[in-house]
Amino acid sequence: MGTSAHKKTTTYRRARPLNGVRVLVTAGPTVEDIDPVRFISNRSSGRMGVALAEAACEMGAKTVLVHGPLAVKRPRHKRLVAVSVRSAAEMFRAVLREARRADLVIMAAAVADFTPVRVACTKIKKRGRATMWLRLKKTRDILAAVGHLRPRPVIVGFAAETENVLVEARRKLKAKNCDLICANNVNEPGSGFGVATNRVVVIRRDGAVMRWPRASKKVIARRLLTEALHFLR
Ligand code: CTP
Repeated sequence: MGTSAHKKTTTYRRARPLNGVRVLVTAGPTVEDIDPVRFISNRSSGRMGVALAEAACEMGAKTVLVHGPLAVKRPRHKRLVAVSVRSAAEMFRAVLREARRADLVIMAAAVADFTPVRVACTKIKKRGRATMWLRLKKTRDILAAVGHLRPRPVIVGFAAETENVLVEARRKLKAKNCDLICANNVNEPGSGFGVATNRVVVIRRDGAVMRWPRASKKVIARRLLTEALHFLR
């Protein structure tokens, strides 16, 4: 009786290594309005971030998912709270509010780097124009802002690249004060936006480079969370 109860406890712990850990995940694109009918966004479906949120819950974490408009179903789980946002500015506010309570922050969202300087409140008309200028300003870097928090949570960044993947990922890891960065080449088949699989290279802040074989986003998510666990201990 005593032995089997003990076995039960250890199996449970092993299956839920994130028990008691508070995880914040971001997912999906952001949407930057131009006028009441138009916007700027990107090709992110939210699959990687959603897989991370699901995996975090299954591994026992209390999870907050801050997401832009998703092309996939929003996950449901008893340990999950989902916060829906639209723009990069809204995501910034939601993440900074939630990050103070998180032990681990994973920024899988494809946040817009630029947003219109002004949002027109009426539809921009084309009459009389052969070309038009759209003036954009830089958005605030959410990941870098989380990196400045004190106390600082464990931080995992993402880097979606089309060339110089390692160089770019290393630069972002340092610049944004991450513990881990997960990079992929979005031009590679089976590794880009909107597909079920990913092939990533993960870099640790001590410089270690891990090249993981192509796998489902759920498998990558569990592996990434397991890697992040080392920094939580
Ligand atoms: N990110 C962020 N806030 C932004 C832009 C990006 O938090 N305003 C985060 C992303 O969620 C991702 C990481 O920063 O985790 C890298 O994003 P990426 O767009 O690849 O890098 P940038 O720094 O924007 O550089 P560039 O677009 O020039 O490659």
